Amino acid sequence: DPLKRVAIVGSGNWGSTIAKIVGNNIEKFNTFENEVRMYVYEEMVDGRKLTEIINQEHENVKYLPGHKFSPNVVAYPDVIEAVKDADILLFILPHQFVERTCLAIKSHVKSTAFAVSFSKGFYVGKDKHVDLLSSVISRSLEIPCYVLMGANIATEVAAGTFCEATVGSRNYEHGQLVKGLIQTDEFRIVIKPDTEVIEVLGALKNIVAVAAGFSDGLGYGDNTKAAVIRLGLKEMVKFCEEFFPGHHPQIFLESCGVADLVTTCYGGRNRKVAAAFVKTGKDIRTLEEEMLNGQKLQGPDAAAEVQEWLKEKGQANKFPLFAAVHDICERRMDPKALIDALRYHPEFW
Ligand code: NAD
Ligand code: 13P
Repeated sequence: DPLKRVAIVGSGNWGSTIAKIVGNNIEKFNTFENEVRMYVYEEMVDGRKLTEIINQEHENVKYLPGHKFSPNVVAYPDVIEAVKDADILLFILPHQFVERTCLAIKSHVKSTAFAVSFSKGFYVGKDKHVDLLSSVISRSLEIPCYVLMGANIATEVAAGTFCEATVGSRNYEHGQLVKGLIQTDEFRIVIKPDTEVIEVLGALKNIVAVAAGFSDGLGYGDNTKAAVIRLGLKEMVKFCEEFFPGHHPQIFLESCGVADLVTTCYGGRNRKVAAAFVKTGKDIRTLEEEMLNGQKLQGPDAAAEVQEWLKEKGQANKFPLFAAVHDICERRMDPKALIDALRYHPEFW
């Protein structure tokens, strides 16, 4: 059999971390092409192209400074070139860019390939119809798409401190290939079949993390944040039960569930920027630019996407914490009113 090719679509903080892992791991196999192509959205960094810096210094100095790629990770500014002949496409883009990137490579992807989505968020079409990102990838490229989600603050994963993740796949062979590419002694992978719920949990926990950040910004303590986490988790579970019935009830206990929610509510970017939103009074977009050096927030957009989803299903008033996060981000509600959403939550009726 010809050797299989792996392409990484995206090279931000998480994309670069996965590139570091896959670049090292792939050398263990004799079934894969050694070169791992990584699509890099081109930009100038200190007067040089980022792709040139990565290919000369084997480091993404902007999005994952201080970590070296193995030299088999090669940066490509042209996304069509990056995915050419690839058998496995790892999609690791901020979720806002997934659809347009798929459109750019549509009809340039091998028909026998498969994809894995690492992005946390939803897609809202022009007709306001809301969809899973894995469905957008799968439909536009006409290949299967699995997911990887978990409690994975990228810089910690890159540093090699112990953690775990959940792969969602109902295809045994493809699931094992993904596990082999990504698992290390410090990054353990569990494969579960509840693909849709695994993806949805990854998107929803970012909304709860924004609420946790508001709570921190308001100066409330650990009890309040624990209440945000618990009521947020209740809404996450309710959303999955309502719209994706049939999953295993223990799926919430995998890394993609409670664990990712906890790490993001304590250590994530969504939490950090949401706290600053309350303290400074600046807009989310302004803070994203000032605080994240090009990295992208997923939570505020996911909050808007979920409201579209709930409107479409006629369920907008059943998820008060999700609704409050969106209203606060849009400045229709004072951050302090988050506590009312908790105080009068259906949990206490
Ligand atoms: P990031 O936040 O570092 O985003 C920056 C990336 O977006 C850069 O590579 C930049 O070049 C690229 N970009 C900017 N404009 C673009 C455009 N128009 N088209 C395409 N790309 C463009 O990205 P990330 O941290 O790698 O996150 C990607 C996904 O992975 C997100 O959905 C996130 O939720 C998820 N994730 C992130 C982490 C983490 O800790 N960073 C952990 C787990 C999951
Ligand atoms: P943030 O985007 O809030 O940093 O969360 C990262 C993440 O998804 C951790 O698993």
